[in-house]
Amino acid sequence: MGTPVIKMPKFVISDEILKQVEALAEQTTPKEALWISGYFAGWAKSKLTTSNSTHQDSYFESVSNSNDFEKLEIRILYGTETGNSYDLAEKLTEILKEEGYVVSCVDINDFKIQNLKKEKCVLIITSTHGDGDPPETAKTFFEELDGRKAPKLDHLQYVILGLGDSSYEHFCGAARYLDKRFNALGAKAILERVECDVDYEEEAEKWFEDVKLKLKELFSKEETMNQNIIHSVKQNEPVQVASNQIFDKRYPFEAEIIENIKITGNGSTKHISHIEFSLEESGLSYQPGDALGVVPVNASSNVEQILTALNLTGEEYINDSNKTLRNSLLYDYDITTLTPRFIETWHNLSKAKDLEEFLPSQGRALLFEYASKNHIIDMIQKYSVTSIDPLEFLNGLRKLQPRLYSISSCQDMALDEVHITVSKLEYELNHGMRYGVASSWLCSRLEPGQTVPVYIQSNHHFRLPEDSNVPVIMIGAGTGIAPYRAFLHQLESDNKKNSPTWLFFGERNFRTDFLYQTEWQQWLRTGYLDRISLAFSRDAKEKIYVQHRIIEQGKTVFEWLEEGAFIYVCGDATYMAKDVNQALLTIIENEGKMSADNASEYLKTLTQQKRYRKDVY
Ligand SMILES: Cc1cc2nc3c(=O)[nH]c(=O)nc-3n(C[C@H](O)[C@H](O)[C@H](O)COP(=O)(O)OP(=O)(O)OC[C@H]3O[C@@H](n4cnc5c(N)ncnc54)[C@H](O)[C@@H]3O)c2cc1C
Ligand SMILES: Cc1cc2nc3c(=O)[nH]c(=O)nc-3n(C[C@H](O)[C@H](O)[C@H](O)COP(=O)(O)O)c2cc1C
Repeated sequence: MGTPVIKMPKFVISDEILKQVEALAEQTTPKEALWISGYFAGWAKSKLTTSNSTHQDSYFESVSNSNDFEKLEIRILYGTETGNSYDLAEKLTEILKEEGYVVSCVDINDFKIQNLKKEKCVLIITSTHGDGDPPETAKTFFEELDGRKAPKLDHLQYVILGLGDSSYEHFCGAARYLDKRFNALGAKAILERVECDVDYEEEAEKWFEDVKLKLKELFSKEETMNQNIIHSVKQNEPVQVASNQIFDKRYPFEAEIIENIKITGNGSTKHISHIEFSLEESGLSYQPGDALGVVPVNASSNVEQILTALNLTGEEYINDSNKTLRNSLLYDYDITTLTPRFIETWHNLSKAKDLEEFLPSQGRALLFEYASKNHIIDMIQKYSVTSIDPLEFLNGLRKLQPRLYSISSCQDMALDEVHITVSKLEYELNHGMRYGVASSWLCSRLEPGQTVPVYIQSNHHFRLPEDSNVPVIMIGAGTGIAPYRAFLHQLESDNKKNSPTWLFFGERNFRTDFLYQTEWQQWLRTGYLDRISLAFSRDAKEKIYVQHRIIEQGKTVFEWLEEGAFIYVCGDATYMAKDVNQALLTIIENEGKMSADNASEYLKTLTQQKRYRKDVY
């Protein structure tokens, strides 16, 4: 097969460049071509995002000028925190563009609810975070939609895909809320809301097909389609650029571990490790603020426990494949979390009467109470089944999911390496110690030389300010310090000392848990870090956390805010982020002499201005 004929619109590429591309294509192998395409995508992405690129402006202007925006445009809105909804929204955009629709894809964060008045058809993909809450960056949209000024939406047709995790009590809470609210405002759902669990890929693909069919049925081609359009982007809207990564969540890169060291000292109550991977020859690139996706492996001791409880050998082959049950349990399935689906499956298999009250049909409260105190192994040991078909058991399980870790290095300094900071999760349950799947694998069972499947999960919302004179306040507890190490490495690499920087860091004990202590001290000396405020909760009788330090330093923190500071919060979502939020409200109220309502408005404005950024988990 010869080189394919490349058809490019004239305004994208000149004849001369096209000739050079064709000549290059003749000389390359498919693998080299893949690498080159990744290289150019990365090059273009950095140009588009870092410069006030005239290429970008003129390209999109010429495209947008050639369109007639009176035509019906389909708007895809996504709300995301860890990138899944964004990936799906991008995929749906591509699918609908290929179908010839006029479609654009926008982060809910960048979309004003008043603009819903101008829309005819919106397709929404949103995840749920916190405790049934919308993703951090979508909160303003949700709040405004909830408010008195929310527009009437009688003219609007919509459809919603929710991403969530069925092991949370408020499964897909954000998608459910949106659906209800859109409906109350008069909008009409053209399809029933679909809710996906963590293994969402297949269901999402099916939803894409349903959406495609529905759109065809509803809108005539003349109204919606314009075959000449590549991508319609109105001016001043965020431009979504394609990922430059060859390896991704579906095709992770096998990264070799270069270093794996415990960085909490002897006697610490925590095991936190600094892990370095080689990304050599992967073509993967990242920026401070991004996370590393790690595809974990279950502990073989847990797999053996399950096999014993099931009375199976593990040598059974699954569905005539080459894979044994043991390997499926090791690599493919979540064998820990009790989900509503597994409880139903096990109830059907065991016929245990005791399990009836935990069935999803009986409401979710008891189910979640039970699931928080038991793992799969606890249930199958207690309610045993004498003879079981391995496939029936596997059908009740979810796919094992990758875990995200904030990247603690900066590529300009670390070059082909990527670093993460992992806290080993260990806790007592039902009279025995339990360990987190990925964190215990990373911290305790992996050594330099071994490889781990990884990918980069970019996080556009957690970047250093573009203006290098702006003050930066970084607040983090435990491993929440990781992205700030990447930030400081970046400032050092760029030799940027203009912006005042301030780290608030909290852990348990100063002697054993001051993560990357020497590096912070060095940055204080060299001037890349201006201030550091530490809170070690177990060093004194009275527990001191980062929020207490923020309040102590309230006057200066408020002055920095008034000077335009960006605030970053990273780490624990359940307690720390909420307490920090409250501390910020308190100092704004006190130092700014404001009412509680005005302080809350002040913080909301910071969020809208993207000066208050959170990466919490
Ligand atoms: C964007 C993002 C960035 C992150 N960055 C980091 C980072 O830099 N460093 C880091 O260490 N982690 C980070 N995490 C968290 C990380 O992804 C994993 O969630 C964490 O390591 C635990 O995963 P695991 O597989 O070890 O635990 P799992 O096997 O997934 O176990 C977690 C589950 O254990 C159960 N559990 C926990 N404690 C108890 C208890 N006391 N009693 C009963 N059940 C309990 C809960 O059901 C919980 O869901 C980040 C997460 C996100 C989303
Ligand atoms: C800290 C955290 C909290 C979460 N809380 C919920 C929840 O309350 N309800 C739910 O259905 N899913 C919850 N999820 C699961 C996410 O919605 C799910 O992983 C989703 O695929 C993420 O999509 P995104 O990457 O687009 O944000 C939570 C995930 C994280 C990391």
